[in-house]
Amino acid sequence: MLYIGVDLGTSAVKLLLMNANGKIENIVSKEYPLAFPHPGWSEQKPEDWYANAIAGIKELTADCDKSQVAGISFGGQMHGLVVLDEKDNVIRPAILWNDGRTGKETEYLNNTIGKENLSKYTANIAFAGFTAPKILWMKENEPENFARIKKIMLPKDYLAYKLSGTFCSDYSDASGMLLMDVEKKCWSKEMIEICGITKEQLPTLYESYDVVGTLRPDIAKELGLPEEVKIIAGAGDNAAAAVGTGTVGDGRCNISLGTSGTIFISSKNFGVDEHNALHSFAHADGNYHLMGCMLSAASCNKWWMDEIIRTKDYAKEQADITKLGENHVFYLPYLMGERSPHNDPDARAMFVGMSMDTTREDMTQAVLEGVAFGLRDSLEVARSLGIQIDRTKICGGGAKSPLWKKIIANVMNLKVDVIESEEGPGYGGAILAAVGCGEYASVEEAAEELVKVVDTVEPEAELVAKYEEQYQKFVKLYPAVKGMKF
Ligand code: XUL
Repeated sequence: MLYIGVDLGTSAVKLLLMNANGKIENIVSKEYPLAFPHPGWSEQKPEDWYANAIAGIKELTADCDKSQVAGISFGGQMHGLVVLDEKDNVIRPAILWNDGRTGKETEYLNNTIGKENLSKYTANIAFAGFTAPKILWMKENEPENFARIKKIMLPKDYLAYKLSGTFCSDYSDASGMLLMDVEKKCWSKEMIEICGITKEQLPTLYESYDVVGTLRPDIAKELGLPEEVKIIAGAGDNAAAAVGTGTVGDGRCNISLGTSGTIFISSKNFGVDEHNALHSFAHADGNYHLMGCMLSAASCNKWWMDEIIRTKDYAKEQADITKLGENHVFYLPYLMGERSPHNDPDARAMFVGMSMDTTREDMTQAVLEGVAFGLRDSLEVARSLGIQIDRTKICGGGAKSPLWKKIIANVMNLKVDVIESEEGPGYGGAILAAVGCGEYASVEEAAEELVKVVDTVEPEAELVAKYEEQYQKFVKLYPAVKGMKF
């Protein structure tokens, strides 16, 4: 049988066709626009996601035996607020995970409702990109739109709804709404009340590998696929990526270098970081995880390459970078503010340390290093909780760069295991579809069987020591400019 994994990302939807043995038969990617209507705001049209997903599925399956397609599942950008009216029309563009407009609402939640209460209700505190503060923002700033809301959902759930007609979400993705009691895996009645919404406006919750329905007959016809094709709930993109890299079960780590940068630590047990710097979310394997999320990771390099030095040849720009651990230039990667661990939507990116001999390569290197230092900030929080990690998987577009993997291995002092394919969320989505269709008994079993490590980047003691010194300089930079409005 064949399984489709849909990675609903921020720059594109990537679709992947996998056979029952885990072999990737085809990959298709379709880009759509991302709007920044004000500095720090970030929106996308759910209609664009759907149109491109449909076009993508058609292209993906054009040459395969369509009768063999058994299931479709998802890894979706998290936290986005999608709102539908009673006729299922999208009320306004989705407000995305990296949107920073909810400073006021986040402050109200963390300081008036209180971090302790939020953590008790949901296992997390409020961050600007989370869904609940955006609901409060809509209530305050767009009361007419707010009054029309019939359904509240997350980005990938909009696709599942359009494809199957089932109003659903999964525990991993719903964890990031600040509306779910993560430990008990149910909606929090306190948070529903605080946001002024009702339970009926929220989707039914499932495990990521649960079947939520089948293709609607009209959609099946449009796609040329059997009506029996199952729709499986899917997961937030980080949980899906973790499945796709075999980061399941207990104490395993995955780093995702996509538009965002995340460090994801799987756990069999529910646990909360007492300072709530790391998110405490459900995992797509039925367990839990802790996660730190940087809002701008590979997007820093993309911005630097595309917008500033204006090139598409990323590899060429990195080819002459040889002096690792000795850069005088530092880069703070906060192009969209920062989530973990600073929780500061007003933080901004900056270069420091340049002199007349600074080169283009130094600046490019600083961007790659700044992202690695930012990830290390979250790793340090995990280490302070007594979590011991000495190796990690890696995925996402940035993971294509051998140099960046080497920098990460040495800045973080981790062995970096490289998987056959860096298509984390798409591959994870396809695995979840296979599990939902009964091809494997569990997510853990499927991941053990299908995910293959092909290489390991080892940290080198001398370089680790150099980067340790560099990191100690880096950690002094953000506090020195914190609170400044640019
Ligand atoms: C995770 C997060 C991002 C998005 C990116 O909390 O906000 O990783 O999921 O798509």
